[in-house]
Amino acid sequence: MSCSLRPVGRAHRARLEQLTRATGRFREEEVATAVELLDASLAGDDDYRFVGAFDGETLAGYACWGPTPGTEGTHDLYWIVVDRDRQGAGIGTLLLREVEGRLKADGCRLVVVETSSRADYTPTRAFYEHRGYARAATIPGYYAPGDDLVIYTKDLTDGDLAGAAS
Ligand SMILES: CC(C)(COP(=O)(O)OP(=O)(O)OC[C@H]1O[C@@H](n2cnc3c(N)ncnc32)[C@H](O)[C@@H]1OP(=O)(O)O)[C@@H](O)C(=O)NCCC(=O)NCCS
Repeated sequence: MSCSLRPVGRAHRARLEQLTRATGRFREEEVATAVELLDASLAGDDDYRFVGAFDGETLAGYACWGPTPGTEGTHDLYWIVVDRDRQGAGIGTLLLREVEGRLKADGCRLVVVETSSRADYTPTRAFYEHRGYARAATIPGYYAPGDDLVIYTKDLTDGDLAGAAS
């Protein structure tokens, strides 16, 4: 599927909400958070950046990321979501590569992604693991009993995360 990457505008707000909900992966409060972050971004808050993948004029997926407070050059990938009917067609990979490319161009060092240990997130974890993300930490029972927080990271520095040899 050929998609083009463009900014997510106010006109795509309802579609972003709908496609996030339609994945069936997120609680209603999480869907609301995604929309709130878009609103913040559209209002000029540079802590939240969005890029959309468009199939023609239709928003097919999006990613949202931003600088991690209190760090130098670390960024959180807060959201990456692809329309349920368009998953597995390379759109998530396109979005992830775009985010990483922009971060590298800005001199960022580390990408952090938080996800869940639940069985229904197995394809999501595989998505990250096959794209260079390493499981850096797990917090047992973080989301709910038996539902751990899994933190993945990707080094954007070609192995120089610790800084130049001193
Ligand atoms: C995870 C997600 C962003 C990946 O985007 P995508 O466009 O489906 O992925 P791509 O087609 O680029 O890549 C396919 C790869 O992702 C994995 N994958 C994850 N979810 C998948 C799905 N629902 N359908 C098909 N492949 C999926 C496949 O295992 C495949 O791995 P491989 O190529 O290494 O063998 C997307 O499936 C999605 O929105 N899932 C639901 C929401 C979610 O879990 N978001 C992440 C929150 S932490």
